[in-house]
Amino acid sequence: MGDKLRIAVLTGGGDCPGINAVIRAVVKRAIMELDMEVIGFEDGYQGLVQNRFRSLQYEDVSGILTLGGTVLGTSKTANPFRYPNKIGDETVFQDLSKNSIENIEALGVECLVVIGGDGTLGIASRLYGEGVPIVGIPKTIDNDIRETETTFGFDTAVQIASDGIDRLHTTAQSHHRIMIVEVMGHNAGWIALHAGTASGGDVILIPEIPYDIEIVSEYVKQRNKRGKRFSIVVVAEGAKPLGGDVVVKRLVKESLDPVRLGGIGFLLGEQVERHTGLETRTVVMGHLLRGGTPTAYDRVLATQLGTRAVSLIRKGVFGRMVGIQKGSLVHIPLEKVATGPKKVPLEHPLLGASRAVGTCFGDKLL
Ligand code: F6P
Repeated sequence: MGDKLRIAVLTGGGDCPGINAVIRAVVKRAIMELDMEVIGFEDGYQGLVQNRFRSLQYEDVSGILTLGGTVLGTSKTANPFRYPNKIGDETVFQDLSKNSIENIEALGVECLVVIGGDGTLGIASRLYGEGVPIVGIPKTIDNDIRETETTFGFDTAVQIASDGIDRLHTTAQSHHRIMIVEVMGHNAGWIALHAGTASGGDVILIPEIPYDIEIVSEYVKQRNKRGKRFSIVVVAEGAKPLGGDVVVKRLVKESLDPVRLGGIGFLLGEQVERHTGLETRTVVMGHLLRGGTPTAYDRVLATQLGTRAVSLIRKGVFGRMVGIQKGSLVHIPLEKVATGPKKVPLEHPLLGASRAVGTCFGDKLL
């Protein structure tokens, strides 16, 4: 170990366009301006627990600004406080937080930069409580992290979803079909609301507004009567019918967030076809929304958040997450962040604007 101040970076949870842009920003600023040494733990908290890391030099991050995914790898199941260990068919959970903290100390890491969603940042908050100097950077396509107005990855996901919905429009129109498009977003409707509005979805169903299938079907039938012989229904994976529940695709019990959503699109497709008698098709956009190059907006946001995180380290300000409030860069105590998903408020102006151009949200007919 040299004389330089050493910091470490890890990326946890689902990948998301713009993570590499953040890693690049942190590493470049730390090396160029502050002459620090940077290492990266591999595969999120798994690398921290297993003491698996690599050096991050300028050359390692040069050219990754536009690259999707994370060059460090990630994990959705590794949690130092509840680390899954497979013994035969059984999964046994162990608290390996002490070993993880020892790894950080032995490496002489002065600050751990954690890039992640609410689960990953929740663990970061606990590690900070145990004395680890940490700075968090919010990451998710879902845009559901509290205390920040937006997250990088969201703009890219909305763009990909909108491009897809635009393409589905022409085929729906040609065949006079109802096209159901299921998009990710976890238990929040941000992606569906934005992509649905951007691409003129006729119906948008989000978790925050339970839908009535009779209303959705009646709306589609009325469009048909008016000569609009196709409809686009954008449904968030976490949407649910009135009095009903979300559709669960799988349970990953090792994960911090064991419920994987998905499948509402097919259920809804069957229901709409039955209620309207109109031919229906379902498309699930799924992980497509998480892949590939980030938009210019997300690259800019990622660069701002990454470089700001290094400012906090320079000032010795830890236990904070960098974020955006009222359009400006801010930092917030980590403990305030991991308190459940940020949902779409029912008074959100975009909901009003979208209704005002005739979009049905499954709760009332216009
Ligand atoms: O949080 C990001 C996200 O893509 C959610 O939108 C989605 O519910 C979930 O991750 C999918 O998880 P996995 O990658 O485990 O399938």
